[in-house]
Amino acid sequence: MVDQQARQALPSERIERIRDEASGLDGFIVVHSTRRGPAAGGCRLRAYVSEVDMLADAVRLAEGMSLKNAVAELPLGGGKAVLRLPTGQFDRVRLFEAFGRAVERLDGDYVTAEDVGTTVTDMTSVRTATMHVAGLAPEPGRAGGDPSPWTALGVFRAMEVAAGRRFGRTLGGLRVAVQGLGSVGHRLCGHLHDAGARLVVADPDRAAVARVVTRYGAVAVAPDAVLSADVDILAPCALGGILDDTSIAALRARLVCGAANNQLAGPEHGALLARRAILYAPDYLVNAGGIVSVAAEYLGWCASEVANRVEAIGPRLHRVLESAAAAGLRPEQMTDRLACTAIAELPTAPGHALRAA
Ligand code: NAI
Repeated sequence: MVDQQARQALPSERIERIRDEASGLDGFIVVHSTRRGPAAGGCRLRAYVSEVDMLADAVRLAEGMSLKNAVAELPLGGGKAVLRLPTGQFDRVRLFEAFGRAVERLDGDYVTAEDVGTTVTDMTSVRTATMHVAGLAPEPGRAGGDPSPWTALGVFRAMEVAAGRRFGRTLGGLRVAVQGLGSVGHRLCGHLHDAGARLVVADPDRAAVARVVTRYGAVAVAPDAVLSADVDILAPCALGGILDDTSIAALRARLVCGAANNQLAGPEHGALLARRAILYAPDYLVNAGGIVSVAAEYLGWCASEVANRVEAIGPRLHRVLESAAAAGLRPEQMTDRLACTAIAELPTAPGHALRAA
């Protein structure tokens, strides 16, 4: 999204239209890059209005996964599957079994997992047709299961580093607004509370708000007030695209660091934040804890490997912030540049070069 030139040098390797009339399967699998390893990225199920929308979403998300996996130093490329939500009644098990067969036909070039609209149960259906799936129920002693605790820990470690850089201090006593108290947000609140931060929280789900108010002494604000709350740090943990002209003008936080994907509404909004001296911790660098956990499950790593790699997110952000400052770039530009270089430096595997568009 930011370093367009670097990104355009890396077009998708392979785009598969996937259809199965019997089950209602209708979608795309995009293998953006396999230079670092199998193209990994979740499967999204949504009510797409057109084929063009569906493909555009898949390409954008697959590219994002290549960048995220490269920056996280995982031996994985990037890919994504998007499926159109069938209208009316449909057999979910049959749909995901058919999707599993489509994944299997790619012979390990693409590895799937849950994403928006899909669940562990769906991935269990996929698993009947292919090994190339993660995000299944965890096995004892192995990595896997809900990735959210790892995402929350990675965001917290990144925030410690970013606060040190922006405020020259630890998180104790700083005011942090957490937007969204779902799987990641409420766990992030736990880490922040333990670190002595003062919490301001918002979520349309009243029970989720009540839980963190009671447990962590958080102050609740309305969802439409959280972006302009009087805080030091904003942690977006709900929706993408929340940093736009209007919200940036109203921000009182001096640092943005959270789990949500694609927080910047457009590339120009990174520049707008910088002009207001608001430090932005790039979303896909700081929220990589979840993909580390999913990758570890697929690659058969142990849980301690996941912990080590998630702990590495803070030091990685530190290096990116240092090198961005030295190069006169914004943090998200430097992150994109690192990712694109990490991908482009590797040769395309011979089998993949033949299929490249
Ligand atoms: P979730 O669906 O469990 O929680 C999202 C929460 O945001 C819900 O409680 C929802 O009520 C709330 N919300 C919705 N609109 C809101 C608004 N306008 N203001 C305040 N709160 C609002 O999602 P999860 O898993 O916690 O993920 C949060 C974000 O982090 C998402 O953008 C997701 O894509 C991203 N992410 C999550 C990862 C994970 O491991 N779960 C990994 C990487 C990114």
